[in-house]
Amino acid sequence: MAESISFTAGSSREQLYAEITPQIEALISDEADLIANLANISAVLREAFGFLWVGFYLVRDDELVLGPFQGPVACTRIAKGKGVCGHAWSTATTVIVPDVDAFPGHIACSSASRSEIVVPIIRRGEVVGVLDVDSDKLNDLTAIDAAGLEKIVGLIEIDSI
Ligand code: SME
Repeated sequence: MAESISFTAGSSREQLYAEITPQIEALISDEADLIANLANISAVLREAFGFLWVGFYLVRDDELVLGPFQGPVACTRIAKGKGVCGHAWSTATTVIVPDVDAFPGHIACSSASRSEIVVPIIRRGEVVGVLDVDSDKLNDLTAIDAAGLEKIVGLIEIDSI
């Protein structure tokens, strides 16, 4: 397994996704444990992009429960339909929030968060978890992130969830 990842600091976000995605694929392909892989994906994304918070919530019964993440302490449980994460779960679509203060019901885990993207992890037609990314900058997350993160989420082998 690779001990580190490499990327060209200062390149565009699109270029960074192109550089890190094959490395994530290699990183998780040799490991069957879901938690280990989600932990490393969180680490790669935070290292490459410097996001405030990157992590996963996993569907457990009727709630999202905090999974592996990198960043400040976060809330542990989110109900379906609540906050950005619960909205991505209930709609089964990627949600981009350019300004978290303008999103009704946004759950503020960190007061430093200014914008957010949540990508649902869908397997066999069901949302089984979400990838959540928070930025400390307004308007920081765009369709480029949606495309890049959806591709990464598609690499996750989730049968063991
Ligand atoms: N802001 C999220 C809650 C999770 S934290 O950002 C880590 C939401 O509104 O669902």
